[in-house]
Amino acid sequence: MSELVAVSRSGDVAVVTVQNPPVNALSPGVPEGIAAAVEDAAADDTVRAMVLIGDGRTFIAGADIREFAKIRSGQRERGEGIHPLLFTLEDCPKPVIAAIHGTAFGGGLEVALACHYRVALASAQVGQPEVKLGILPGAGGTLRLPRLAGVAKAAEMCAIGDPITAQDALDHHILDRIVEGGSRESLLAGTLAFAAELIADGAKTPRVRDNDERLGDMAANAPIFAKMRALAHQKRRGQMAPQKSIDSVEAATKMPFEEARVLTAKLFMECLHSPQSEALIHVFFGEREVRKIPDVPSDSRTRKIAKAAIVGAGTMGGGIAMNYANAGIPVRLKEVSEQALQRGLARIRANYDHSVKRGRFTPEFVRERMDLIQPTLSYKEFADADIVVEAVFENMELKKTVFRELDEATKPEAILATNTSTLDVDEIASVTADPTRVIGTHFFSPANVMRLLEVVRGKKTAKDVIATAMQLGRRMKKVGVLVGNCHGFVGNRMFVPYMREAQFLVEEGANIVDVDQALEDFGMAMGPLAVGDLAGIDVAWRIRREAGHEQPEGVRQPLSEDALYEMGRYGQKTGAGWYRYGENRKRSPDPNVQTVITDIAARAGLEQRTIGAREIVDRAIYTLVNEGARILEEGIALRPVDIDIVYLYGYGFPAYKGGPMWYADWVGLQSVYERILEFEAQHGHWWKPAPLLARLAAERKTFSDWQRERS
Ligand code: 3HC
Ligand code: NAI
Repeated sequence: MSELVAVSRSGDVAVVTVQNPPVNALSPGVPEGIAAAVEDAAADDTVRAMVLIGDGRTFIAGADIREFAKIRSGQRERGEGIHPLLFTLEDCPKPVIAAIHGTAFGGGLEVALACHYRVALASAQVGQPEVKLGILPGAGGTLRLPRLAGVAKAAEMCAIGDPITAQDALDHHILDRIVEGGSRESLLAGTLAFAAELIADGAKTPRVRDNDERLGDMAANAPIFAKMRALAHQKRRGQMAPQKSIDSVEAATKMPFEEARVLTAKLFMECLHSPQSEALIHVFFGEREVRKIPDVPSDSRTRKIAKAAIVGAGTMGGGIAMNYANAGIPVRLKEVSEQALQRGLARIRANYDHSVKRGRFTPEFVRERMDLIQPTLSYKEFADADIVVEAVFENMELKKTVFRELDEATKPEAILATNTSTLDVDEIASVTADPTRVIGTHFFSPANVMRLLEVVRGKKTAKDVIATAMQLGRRMKKVGVLVGNCHGFVGNRMFVPYMREAQFLVEEGANIVDVDQALEDFGMAMGPLAVGDLAGIDVAWRIRREAGHEQPEGVRQPLSEDALYEMGRYGQKTGAGWYRYGENRKRSPDPNVQTVITDIAARAGLEQRTIGAREIVDRAIYTLVNEGARILEEGIALRPVDIDIVYLYGYGFPAYKGGPMWYADWVGLQSVYERILEFEAQHGHWWKPAPLLARLAAERKTFSDWQRERS
């Protein structure tokens, strides 16, 4: 038997165990190994049933995602190994039972669906997450799931891709039984007991593909598919795989199994060959790559974090406190006055109430979390905190004062973190006796929702402090990205020129709505000017003042945001900014703003012209790329993919375009470079191409090539 698959016996049951750590993916050799084991057991007269189980922490978590590039390039055939296995399992004359713990995802669930029965631990999850990789379930999930779970559930699982619990799967007939206990051993024991029952009952071998009862009829299914398509459009805007997944489920209801299988194969290959799938697979591996820090290995020592404290219960401090509480860590929350404290707590409570209303948390969970958040007006209770996060106003002098106080108030090994979004972490650290314990943990607003956490490494930050901050991010279910210290770090440093370009476009005659629309059509979750309104025109104004980075004379400055600030149009919070806001903060264009900007532009002598979507997108996105290239060369980001992940999780860049650096590689750095040269000729020196971009374009290379050569 292959090393990837082991077979043992328990009486008259053969136990086939997949041993392909860490997640038992269906790598080459695994499906072949399972098929050989099943065929051997089928031929063995002493075997009356089989159990298929995963070794280690999970059942099969899917196809081996690394293999998709080989299929795309023609090095491998699609479904090699997997498709023959499905028929071997389903046609086996003796019952085969999938025993599921951990996650049966993608090809893993599809293998389980080809078994005659499925049992699982209560903690197990099943799902068809392929759409998150830009593909569709290619090994029968779209065809067998509706035969068990019905059309609506199957279409949703395949088109949205979110996992479901074992109980949900049982309720939808995907599982036949949930076994008692929580360990793999109890799963095996429960499955063997189930096998004994089956044998006693005549060892029947029902094939899912033969069961058409739950497929429904065309008239009843039509509105279900329409609803699912709308849901997929809303949740996975701009992506092709979700719609094609529904095409495939629909085919399952309209044509014989084999015909639908052939059609699905075609749809699968269309998706796999799309740039969307390449980008989404880049994101899958990118999310895992950003955890890897060359000089801080994953098994580095970390500091114990059992108690936390936060200074400042404003917009960010409150949200950060919720993250700690949600991770089960008690947290002290300090403010300057009782009034500010109560205001902060009220906002936290309102956020939690909202989550209860949406069914995300139970009232009991919220009560427990609120109990973990302990308000205070003094530093006295900070003595036993393992980490303190400072979230006071964005002002260097104030932050230094707070850090001097924290130096006194905390134990020497406590980590001191700042949530500054732009300020120099080393300068803040310099006022402490031990700057090795100072780090940036830059949460994004709303901090309890946004998944990005920029972990900012100062010159002297200790490695175990970095390892602890990254680990803490995972405990909070954030995507932590380690970045270097500079004004704005990675995300905001790139966002400044992006926002500036959006303003320039408007000042040159583009309509506010058109700028946002063009970028939303590109795939951004929200256009830049709408984001400006959400983040607060006043917040950006204060950051500009604090930074004091006035441009040298003769260099063009954006004018409109300052004008909005002076008009008191701070964005959503004042009901007016770039847009006007009505009920439920719904935005609508405000012709007055457009007129004000036209006047400003006229006074500044700026020529007005019509600007198309292509120019809007190129100028906004390429300015991100150009700044990103500088950030890479300076070592502020570890790898191009780190920038991509920051932009996906912090700024709503479309995952199916992979992130700004991946997108630039896809467009071709030569084209990007040439376009930037055009912009430089038209607009001036702020479009000067980054030296790294110029070099790679000349060498006809990509950012990915550059990364490969360095590692
Ligand atoms: N193929 C290849 N590598 C995989 C993989 C897969 N399907 N799933 C996980 N890995 C790798 C990860 O890249 C990571 O590698 P690294 O340690 O070198 O960075 C390692 O396994 C561990 O993964 P995680 O860090 O993600 O481990 P977690 O325990 O946090 O999560 C998991 C486990 C929930 C299984 C998660 O890894 C996951 O969601 N995996 C992807 C599942 C998936 O998308 N399956 C569908 C694949 S496509 C398919 O099956 C097509 C079919 O229809 C034919
Ligand atoms: P905020 O103005 O909402 O809250 C700041 C709070 O700090 C106020 O409640 C204030 O009373 C309190 N405070 C001031 N001095 C204090 C002291 N000595 N002790 C205790 N509390 C004190 O500010 P916000 O938006 O929460 O920002 C906080 C930090 O987070 C800033 O550094 C900001 O740049 C950063 N940030 C802000 C984001 C945002 O979107 N608002 C996003 C990411 C980072």
